[in-house]
Order: sequence, then C-alpha cells, then structure tokens
Amino acid sequence: MAAEPEAPTQTILPQAVGEDQHAASKQTVDPWNVAGAVDEHGKVQAIDYNKLIEEFGTKPIDDALLERFEKVVGVKPHHLLRRGVFFSHRDFEAILDRYERKEPFYLYTGRGPSSDSMHIGHVIPFTFTKWLSDVFDAPLVIMLTDDEKFLFSEKRTVEEVKAYARSNAKDILAIGFNPERTFMFSDYDYIGGSIYANITRIAKRITVNAASAVFGFDGSTNIGKMGFAAIQAAPSFANSFPHIFGDNDAVTTQIPCLIPCAIDQDPYFRLTRDVAQGLHYAKPSLIHARFLDALGGPGSKMSASVESSAIFMTDTPKKIETKMKKYAFSGGRETAEEQRALGGNPDVDVSYQYLRFFLEDDEELAQIEQDYRSGKMLTGEIKMRCAKELSKFCTDFQERRAQITEETVDLFMSRRPLVWRGSEAVKTL
Ligand code: TRP
Repeated sequence: MAAEPEAPTQTILPQAVGEDQHAASKQTVDPWNVAGAVDEHGKVQAIDYNKLIEEFGTKPIDDALLERFEKVVGVKPHHLLRRGVFFSHRDFEAILDRYERKEPFYLYTGRGPSSDSMHIGHVIPFTFTKWLSDVFDAPLVIMLTDDEKFLFSEKRTVEEVKAYARSNAKDILAIGFNPERTFMFSDYDYIGGSIYANITRIAKRITVNAASAVFGFDGSTNIGKMGFAAIQAAPSFANSFPHIFGDNDAVTTQIPCLIPCAIDQDPYFRLTRDVAQGLHYAKPSLIHARFLDALGGPGSKMSASVESSAIFMTDTPKKIETKMKKYAFSGGRETAEEQRALGGNPDVDVSYQYLRFFLEDDEELAQIEQDYRSGKMLTGEIKMRCAKELSKFCTDFQERRAQITEETVDLFMSRRPLVWRGSEAVKTL
C-alpha cells in the first residue's frame, strides 16, 4: 500500500491481506484506509455501514429524525438524506433544537487538497453542505488542509500542496456557496492568532497514547502527523473565528457546529468531542456520509489518478458515456434475452447506485428501479440514463467553474464578518 493514499475521504483501497493472498479480513475505515472486508476467496466486499454505526458508536439517521427535520426547518429533506447517503450522526438533534430556539450554530467541513483532479465522489459532501447552509441560513467554514497533505505524503512539496489548495478552492466554490455566509481558508494561510490558541489548547489535551490508539500511530510516526489531529479539530470551536463570531469567549465557546463529512473522518471528531468536554466548549455535532462506489463496483477503488475508476468533474458528456459503457459495473445479465426474462440487480449496479446519488426525482428513480429489476430496462439503457444525469451534473459544474476567478477565491478567503440568520443576535449576546 502506498504511504499516502490519494484523497482518503473517498478512496476505496484494496485490503492489505499480508502473506496469504486469500486470508479473509475485516473491513477497515479510518482517515487513511477505506476497504471492505475480504472473504476467504480474496474477494473484496462492499462496506457494511450498519456495522460502522455499531463500531463507531454513532446513531443511524432514521425516519423519526427526518420527520423532525422537516417539521423544524420546514423543508423536505435533501435526497441524499432521504436515500441514506448521509446515514449516521452524532447529536444532530442538538442542532435542530438550536435552530428551533433560534440560537446560533454553524457548519464546518473541509478537504485535503491532494491533487488537482476532483471526481464526483469528492463533490457529494460539499453539495450537501451547501444545501444545509442554504436551508439553515447558517454560516459555513471550509478548511483546506494543505498542511495535512504535506505531512502525510512522502513526496509532495509544500509548494505543490499550496497550489492544489488554490485550485481545489475554485472547484469547491463552483458548487455555489453563498459569499455572504461562507468563509474558506487554507491552513498555511490562516493558522495563527485565535485558531492557533485553540490548536494548542487541544494539543495539550491529547496524549501520544490517545492519538496512537485512535489513529494507529507508533514511535516511527512523524510528530507533525500527531499534531495534525489538533489542527483538524480546531475549526470545531467558534472562538477560532473571531471575525465571524466576535471575541467574547464566554459566548463563542458555547456556539456549536455541525460537521458534514464522510464517515472515515469520524475518528478526528470523536477525539474533538472528548477534548471539548474538558475545555467546557460546545461539542460539535456530526452528520456522516457513506462512500460512492467506484466504477468497478462495490469494493473497488476510486482513485484520483486512475481515469477508468471514476467520473471526474472535468469529463465531457462523451467521455462520461464511454466510461459508463466500458467500465461501470453492471448488475444486469449476460444477454438482453436473459435480462428481459430474469431482470437485473440494482443493488450492485453502479449506474443505479449513481442515480440514487444524483437523480433528484424520486418517482423516476423508483420507476427505473422497478423496470431494471423486472427486466423491462436493459443494462445499456440504465447506463445511458445515468450518463445523461452525470453529464448534466458535470456540465453545469464546468460552467460555474469557468466563472470562478482568483478574485472569487480571495473574496471567500478574506477575514470578514459574515451575514446569516443569527449574525445580528450573536453581536448582542
Ligand atoms: N482530512 C480531510 C481530508 O483529507 C479534510 C478535512 C479537514 C475535513 N476538516 C474536515 C473533512 C472537516 C470533513 C470535515 O479530506
């Protein structure tokens, strides 16, 4: 396994199986490795998300929670919520309580800029975070961990990761964040002042033993990796951003955040929640996403450097069609006749799975599922329907991306007050 896997939040790595190629092994999900279990024949299985909920001690997002969301916020839950892409949480109810009482909270998410190419899997959590920020009218901070991608890589230079942060910033902003209530920063640029004070407060409360237990570090780990846990934790506390929340610590330390992230980032925030308790700061809430399968199907690896593994945000409609035809794992039958007679299996079919993530229309999705299962719809047809939806998603994105300039990035990264539903109230607290 490479020392630094690409884009850990969305990468499915083949499990390291040791000497015996066919040794069965359990699934691994942590910030650096995401791999399904391997069965006794050496076949990689899909990730078992219910098992993760159990192991991590999080809560499933159930119908009752979605109903409460709709009742409190007055908006139908996003399709990524309704369809279980965001499937797990920690204290999400606490955020709904605050929304209901009109008390301030904010959103925090991030990206490790490990390369220039972003694929559709990278964009999912950001699309959802934008929606949350819009429906809650809540401020959002987006962290670009250029430092992380330097510390955790054998070969990248500081200059390279800084350049990636800048280009990833443009990609992320093309998703359409509102400049009035979004602050984006890169670690190399922003860390100092109040956020650095928090980093040291946090670092002081994490022992080498605790970090090693959570992240699997040992005596040969460089000390920067050890310290990084405190860096990723710090934006969870509102007093890291005095230009947004003011500098009255008695108030700001009690403003909680909600962190939408892929489930592999949970270990960082488990630690953060423990530290928050000790510091008497508000504990962050979390909402976790599952991963998007790579084109090769459940258990395969989506890699920023392997063209055939994923649909990239820069792909043209023609390329998307070709990739779907050639590489998308099919739950269909060998021949059209068999498919008509026996039907396909949408549960493992990559085209169907992508439609669940990207096709908003519930009725059409249900129809597709039914037609595919019954054999009325053929593999070629579902692949083309999926290609059409992804093309629209990528083309719309590319149009917005072309409008993003250096000035846009500078604006989002400037340290300024933000305006949102509770911004006036925060000033008078
Ligand atoms: N470590 C994350 C990555 O490699 C980046 C990140 C920083 C992040 N803070 C976050 C992701 C908060 C989600 C939420 O991509």
